[in-house]
Amino acid sequence: MEFRHLGRSGLKVSEISYGNWLTHGSQVEEEAAKQCVQAALDEGITTFDTADVYAGTKAEEVLGRALKGVRRESLEIFTKVYWPTGRGQNDRGLSRKHITESIHGSLRRLQTDYVDLYQAHRFDVETPLEETLKTFDDLVRQGKVLYIGVSEWTADQISAALKIADEMGFDRFVSNQPQYSMLWRIIESEVVPLCEREGIGQIVWSPIAQGVLTGKYLPGQQPPEGSRATDPSGSGMISRFMNDDVLTRVQNLKPIAADLGLTMAQLAVAWVLQNPNVSSAIIGASRPDQVRDNVRAAGVSLDQDVLKRIDDVLGPIVERDPAKTVSPSSRP
Ligand SMILES: NC(=O)c1ccc[n+]([C@@H]2O[C@H](COP(=O)([O-])OP(=O)(O)OC[C@H]3O[C@@H](n4cnc5c(N)ncnc54)[C@H](OP(=O)(O)O)[C@@H]3O)[C@@H](O)[C@H]2O)c1
Repeated sequence: MEFRHLGRSGLKVSEISYGNWLTHGSQVEEEAAKQCVQAALDEGITTFDTADVYAGTKAEEVLGRALKGVRRESLEIFTKVYWPTGRGQNDRGLSRKHITESIHGSLRRLQTDYVDLYQAHRFDVETPLEETLKTFDDLVRQGKVLYIGVSEWTADQISAALKIADEMGFDRFVSNQPQYSMLWRIIESEVVPLCEREGIGQIVWSPIAQGVLTGKYLPGQQPPEGSRATDPSGSGMISRFMNDDVLTRVQNLKPIAADLGLTMAQLAVAWVLQNPNVSSAIIGASRPDQVRDNVRAAGVSLDQDVLKRIDDVLGPIVERDPAKTVSPSSRP
């Protein structure tokens, strides 16, 4: 495993991290979840990403149990707040009340005294930014949270937050967690240049486009049994990639991976790690062998010719529009 700084902070993270959205407490059984976490630890992954909302808070519990007994100082545990965790008006968003209540729930479920990174899971249009930033800053001072970050915020939103933090002397965000893959490059034109200037690192999600970039979904055919595209909780977001044009072009990446002696998943994870603003690629897995396959992307370097071949194959299906970075227009 290779390690990178989280943005300009002093914190080192494994360049491949493990996330448990849609899997723990949901698609996969507890025993398989534990085996995936053990495979991640065995492969040198030290950074684990979850969220209060995953599997209606069950994912944090599963991760807490799976990491029990592992030396806390050897781990970086990341979680998030924003999406609803209950039915109440205040069980959501980035108000002082919800953030404070949510971190306490996360710490209890994760069985830890602090999280290494606490992330605003989207931008909350219904809470003044000062309120959110002051509350995050308080959690840092209380030692419940060591670093703070955001997820899927626009360049303008990140910029506004940094301005307030600097004026008020609040802790600054060190990370952003966006979707990023060969197919989804919407952060490249606005978010990444701002973050490079401001010392913010990207911890990118769905680097293999939820399994699509493994090439296992074939054009004109039903998705393989048991794959995410067939799972009731997971098939919604993957559906944007499940059309014949995308799936055919992805098949045409296979000779590129083969020439490099990489699997398709390794090529996809290695691709996001070529961007120096990426601190870590968060991989998901429903089985331990997927973790063992995908981590082999650590430390792989792709030259300009390879990157051009990939761009030529994918052509117009690559999404680059920065306007696709959006948070809900009202609280969910
Ligand atoms: N901040 C956010 O808003 C946000 C949103 C989404 C995710 N995330 C984070 O990012 C993490 C990763 O997201 P993701 O799970 O979508 O990432 P991903 O790595 O792109 O997709 C993982 C899925 O692809 C399939 N897969 C993985 N390796 C494979 C292999 N070698 N061969 C065949 N299939 C393989 C597995 O699904 P099947 O076996 O079921 O097909 C696996 O669960 C999440 O756990 C979460 O921590 C954050």
